[in-house]
Amino acid sequence: MIPNANEPVRLGVNIDHVATVRQARGGLSPSVSEAANLAVRGGADLITVHLREDRRHIQDSDVYSLKRELNVPLNLELAATAEMVSIACDIKPASCCLVPERRAEITTEGGLDIHTLSNGLEHIVETLDAAGTTVSAFIDPKPIQVQAAANIGIKVIEFHTGKYSLATNAARRAQELNGLKEAISMASSLGLRVHAGHGLDYQNVGLISQIKDIRELNIGHAIVARALYVGLEKAVALMKCLILEADQ
Ligand code: PXP
Repeated sequence: MIPNANEPVRLGVNIDHVATVRQARGGLSPSVSEAANLAVRGGADLITVHLREDRRHIQDSDVYSLKRELNVPLNLELAATAEMVSIACDIKPASCCLVPERRAEITTEGGLDIHTLSNGLEHIVETLDAAGTTVSAFIDPKPIQVQAAANIGIKVIEFHTGKYSLATNAARRAQELNGLKEAISMASSLGLRVHAGHGLDYQNVGLISQIKDIRELNIGHAIVARALYVGLEKAVALMKCLILEADQ
């Protein structure tokens, strides 16, 4: 169910990197389920995982276990491939976020090019919709992509905040922030629900959380990195606090 627009910004905690550490030794530790529980105790409103085609971190069994065990919604990031769509239809997470995927990338590098791929994507969106999961798409903050998403019936979009997060000076950051604000206002005027994420951290999350119409942020790396020093529950609580303060 999509929450009401007056509710506070939700925090989705991406725990892929807990699985990255586990996969480094191929054993069972650290446990993705335990990490998810700690994130929820710290205030995560949902848990996000990306089942990559190369299974470099999250495994199929993790997604099944999280769906069974979690008492908050599970958001599954997936490439728009037949294999991933079939897994998503079987697991039926609360939401599915379509992301672009290149095997060689370290992390998701850019948004999904819905404008170019629209014909193929429309069927995937319909299939996931029919499975009862809320479909979102991870896109760059560009009007052409926002319009393309609306055209194929996507109701939720997650804007890629990577360029804003990586901006190396104030002028560049302001420029990226303005681009995001314009894309968000266009998306809202088309009736789309807006999420955002990628590269957000404890320093740069405030300005993003202040943007009217952002309903959800998905954050992974910064939280898991901070958790090494203070523990996951505290790292999530601190991020949640910054988001809610800025969202006042
Ligand atoms: N949203 C999407 C769609 C992503 O692919 C990722 C990275 O997995 C994130 C959010 C979280 O990015 P980060 O780990 O940089 O916070």
